[in-house]
Amino acid sequence: MTLFVTNALAASLASYPEGWETWPVVKESVNLPADVVLPEDTSLFIQESVSSYSWINNGQGSPLTIRVHPEKLEQYKTHGPYTDGITAVAVSEVEGIIWVTEHIAGEAIYGSYNRQGQDISSSHPALEPQFCSSCHTRYKDICKNGTCTEPVLKVYGDTN
Ligand code: HEC
Repeated sequence: MTLFVTNALAASLASYPEGWETWPVVKESVNLPADVVLPEDTSLFIQESVSSYSWINNGQGSPLTIRVHPEKLEQYKTHGPYTDGITAVAVSEVEGIIWVTEHIAGEAIYGSYNRQGQDISSSHPALEPQFCSSCHTRYKDICKNGTCTEPVLKVYGDTN
């Protein structure tokens, strides 16, 4: 039965972001703990984002740092359009997971690595590239061209 073999091991589509440690931080965020109580009017997008990653750090949440490739800061401000190459990373400070978004011919592709540069996308269903797309592509009014953070970030306001 070859039918089931093809999906057995997910692989990152985005490459490892060499040098990410020195890229500018655009946002400090969090993976919320599993027992967080969200306000009733919380959007479906945020609810899904929280529940998808509530397993991080044994359900206790983790700080998340978002960094953007230095040559793509301007593109990130406007949610693209993006040139080819790695665009942004989100780094879980506790688990050491590095979420990667790369662009190829205008399309976003995704991957997950640990800090040793090993592909960990098959280690959890929520780290598979297809799963990333399901959120980053589906919520078109929030995620444009594959990036989700608010385009007008406080950090830019401070520097202007
Ligand atoms: C259920 C929704 C959801 C899924 C699934 C998801 N993300 Fe995200 N992603 C978000 C949200 C929300 C943010 C913005 C977080 C913030 O600004 O605090 C984000 C931000 C990011 C960022 C920072 C750059 C940016 O602004 O978009 C990267 C990189 C990223 N995600 C990659 C990934 C990868 C890789 C996967 C799959 C392994 C993934 N995401 C799966 C919702 C999701």
